[in-house]
Amino acid sequence: MDGRNHSVLSEFLLLGLTSSWRIQILLFLFFTIFYVASMLGNLLIVLTIIADHHLHTPMYFLLANLSFIDTGVSSIATPKMMYDLFRKYKVISLKGCITQMFFIHTIGGTEMVLLIVMAYDRYTAICKPLHYLTIMSPKMCICLLAVAWTIGLIHSVIQLAFVVNLPFCGSNKMDSFYCDFPRFIKLACVDTYGLEFLVTTNSGLISLGTFFILILSYVFILFTVQKHFSGGFAKALSTLSAHITVVLFFFGPCIIVYVWPFPTLPIDKFLAIFDAIITPFMNPVIYTFRNKEMKAAMRRLFLRSLCFRKKHFMHSPGNSD
Ligand SMILES: *[C@@H]1O[C@H](CO)[C@@H](O)[C@H](O)[C@H]1NC(C)=O
Repeated sequence: MDGRNHSVLSEFLLLGLTSSWRIQILLFLFFTIFYVASMLGNLLIVLTIIADHHLHTPMYFLLANLSFIDTGVSSIATPKMMYDLFRKYKVISLKGCITQMFFIHTIGGTEMVLLIVMAYDRYTAICKPLHYLTIMSPKMCICLLAVAWTIGLIHSVIQLAFVVNLPFCGSNKMDSFYCDFPRFIKLACVDTYGLEFLVTTNSGLISLGTFFILILSYVFILFTVQKHFSGGFAKALSTLSAHITVVLFFFGPCIIVYVWPFPTLPIDKFLAIFDAIITPFMNPVIYTFRNKEMKAAMRRLFLRSLCFRKKHFMHSPGNSD
């Protein structure tokens, strides 16, 4: 091989989820419903929390940030995939591919750290209630958020740095509906053993590590509560069960995709649907339908917007008496 100009491929062909026309239409309906519902649900959570001063506490600010991140998660691959369902050749440029991987890992990494921050917040609230507001001060919250974004960014850039200059010359068929490291690396025409190891350790370790930290922190909180406060266990469990559900949905697919990414399993691309679409949709469902405070705040927001419209209507020039 001559050392230059062997990166002849500039785009990839995504094979998508299925080639059956009927299933594609069903998938389109399914994705549209979930995508619209999760965007609206998450934006409603952000709006409610920002608008309602009853919810101006660290826990809700973190939840608003999680919802905000989830609108990003569901927008990275889903809109393109839905558009692609109707295209015969689902192509993505090399740049587009790298952009997708950058956002998937920056936002995904940030979300993982944010979940740890939220567990820490619950730990402080439940186990150190008297010091809660001093420990989780606004400054501390912003600092923790900055740490989350920084770790997400570093996690993503480190992996990208190793793959941006890979040469591609052979097949450009990617058996998936979006670009991600495991399949991307496989297509490069160099020996990729070292890179595969890098991705497995980096993405695999961050998913597996975060997952264990979170589970341990929940067990620790429940254990502390049971030991020190009689009768607090059920209440703590009900608070934490929302977190635990989110964590299982988010990390289950991630761990399977990254911890055993080589050889890539055919089931990977279906598991990715969970992280791309279903998990971002779960947050609003879990946090609003199960949470009295959120429900009350949404009711207030709704009533306020009704009043506003009524006032507006009565004062508008066309309707003056
Ligand atoms: C995220 O959290 C910070 C700090 O608590 C808060 O000021 C900000 O409004 C939140 N962002 C969103 C989008 O909710």
